[in-house]
Amino acid sequence: FWLPTVFSIVFICFLSQLHSSYSPQEKKPAQVHILILSSWRSGSSFTGQLFSQHPDVFYLMEPAWHVWTAMYQNRAKALQMAAHDLIRSVFLCNMSVFDAYMSTQRNKSDLFQWEASRALCSPPACDHFQRNHIISKTACKTLCSRYPFSKVEEACKTYSHRVIKEVRFFDLTVLYPLLTDPSLNLKIIHLVRDPRAVFHSREKTLAALIDDNNIVVGPQKNQGERGPYNVMQEICKSHIQIYTEGSQALPSFLKGRYMLVRYEDIVNDPLAKAAQMYKFAELHLIPKLEVWVYNITHGKGLGTQVFDIGSRDAVNVSQAWRKNLPFQKIAKLQNVCKDAMDLLGYRLVMSEEEQKDMALNLLFTQGLPPSDTGS
Ligand SMILES: *[C@@H]1O[C@H](CO)[C@@H](O)[C@H](O)[C@H]1NC(C)=O
Ligand SMILES: *[C@@H]1O[C@H](CO)[C@@H](O)[C@H](O)[C@H]1NC(C)=O
Ligand SMILES: *[C@@H]1O[C@H](CO)[C@@H](O)[C@H](O)[C@H]1NC(C)=O
Ligand SMILES: *[C@@H]1O[C@H](CO)[C@@H](O)[C@H](O)[C@H]1NC(C)=O
Repeated sequence: FWLPTVFSIVFICFLSQLHSSYSPQEKKPAQVHILILSSWRSGSSFTGQLFSQHPDVFYLMEPAWHVWTAMYQNRAKALQMAAHDLIRSVFLCNMSVFDAYMSTQRNKSDLFQWEASRALCSPPACDHFQRNHIISKTACKTLCSRYPFSKVEEACKTYSHRVIKEVRFFDLTVLYPLLTDPSLNLKIIHLVRDPRAVFHSREKTLAALIDDNNIVVGPQKNQGERGPYNVMQEICKSHIQIYTEGSQALPSFLKGRYMLVRYEDIVNDPLAKAAQMYKFAELHLIPKLEVWVYNITHGKGLGTQVFDIGSRDAVNVSQAWRKNLPFQKIAKLQNVCKDAMDLLGYRLVMSEEEQKDMALNLLFTQGLPPSDTGS
């Protein structure tokens, strides 16, 4: 009686082993590719730094800036495929893709925001720091700018994890080919922030965003008093699309490869959120990084230019819109972003009184999946 049972169990185990090792869909490369998908003024530079400063990570911030800058007469939708091709090449460390957008005589320092990449500030891309140093943008820019462009590719190839932050994708479907691509092991971190805080922050950087806004909604809809609301409407719509597909893991190749992160949750508990994101990205949390994360979210250490908060407290800053944004603007904005806010767990305020009542928590957890959906 026992012998055949044991035999069949062993045999079944053998079969399933065989099956998993020969299943073509599950074959993924040893590297991990992480795309931080976000929007302007949503804390994505800070989140990018959490990855950039990790010694196992090659990080690039917004490489598709070069696509948009070279082809600024186009609309976002028309540029999505070019942006897709660009990030695929960057994930594979094939930097000749930049030939299409930059001079062939380019240097490392011609790359947009190169100094935000710790990997481009340490060997083999720069000899002034160690790979496990925490390196500030200013120090890097001063010491590491005079290196040839070829160092970007050389450095990239030495890392197990490659992370790109992008604000220039508006839906997930355009990224499907990357998720099914056998040469990539892509995971997506979708970073969102309360649209009211985004709006408030965007008002302070309006001039810098004009070109991007024209690409997002077109020059017509970007004009006048409605302009900023039209742009936010487009951004909120994109968050709904991305979150809906990602969280339901439809199609199934998204399973385990999508993680929603709200900026406010990072601000409220930076260490816990960093740990979750690292786990999703298959990275180890390093004690030195923990201290650094604590420092920069509490107004200490190197982090000021990263968190753009000066010496103030991160929680305090993330609530600044409640003190400074007029209620009529909030009402108009909630009008165009209501669906996204409901979905992502941002409570609407119905009066100026509610807006100013700091005891009123505007962050829902209900309706959200467990935040570690990725693992
Ligand atoms: C790198 O990308 C270029 C196109 O941008 C392509 O022609 C070339 O074959 C790629 N190189 C490798 C090694 O895949
Ligand atoms: C690249 O750097 C070299 C040496 O610093 C400089 O002579 C050259 O003009 C730079 N090229 C570009 C395109 O900026
Ligand atoms: C954190 O802050 C303390 C106190 O300002 C400082 O001594 C330490 O070097 C900082 N560490 C990191 C990793 O930023
Ligand atoms: C931030 O903190 C400062 C000083 O502690 C306080 O005066 C200010 O009202 C706070 N702002 C918000 C939005 O909580």
